[in-house]
Amino acid sequence: MKQPRIVGISGNAKRPSKTRALVCTVAERVSQKCGFAVDIFDLADLGPSVETTRDEASAETKRVLEAIESADALIVGTPVYKGAYAGLLKHLFDLIEPLALKDRPILLTAVGGGQRHSLIIEHHLRPLFGFFEALTIPTGIYASEGDFTNGTVSEPGVNARIDHAVRQLGAILGNEAFRGS
Ligand SMILES: Cc1cc2nc3c(=O)[nH]c(=O)nc-3n(C[C@H](O)[C@H](O)[C@H](O)COP(=O)(O)O)c2cc1C
Repeated sequence: MKQPRIVGISGNAKRPSKTRALVCTVAERVSQKCGFAVDIFDLADLGPSVETTRDEASAETKRVLEAIESADALIVGTPVYKGAYAGLLKHLFDLIEPLALKDRPILLTAVGGGQRHSLIIEHHLRPLFGFFEALTIPTGIYASEGDFTNGTVSEPGVNARIDHAVRQLGAILGNEAFRGS
């Protein structure tokens, strides 16, 4: 069976980044439990430019857009900025073809300074991917800055949600290991 191609995209524009760390943790868990490799990109990979149309996009931005559109599943992460997703991450998805993510499984994650905006996944990220008619994974993963130790997720509740969401992604992708679990 052909291995699904999974792409992680993180809305951080600088590193180190807890948003990227959360996407990487989810990606590692997907690799461990499903055996799928994940390619990860972040906005720091794209440099400082903001292209208004796809034709104007740099070669690197086009490469990331093509990776997103051709993936079998996505892991998306955003830092919380002013109670919503990062504007530049939205801008990247503004350059995606409207039908390119239809029926695509997407696991949603976000990192904020505290718990106050933990519904960002339900109020902002899920509606964005609703526009694309994507199949968002039911369990979203929100973490606060305090849920990390030395750059990795250390809070047991967040780790449990990661396992749960990864099981749901595995089931949707039809992975043998998840049948009946
Ligand atoms: C411009 C800006 C706006 C922010 N707004 C919020 C906010 O509304 N709610 C919140 O919980 N955290 C907010 N934060 C904190 C960031 O969400 C938090 O530091 C970030 O998720 C850490 O991710 P990173 O390490 O990937 O940058 C804000 C940070 C910045 C820089």
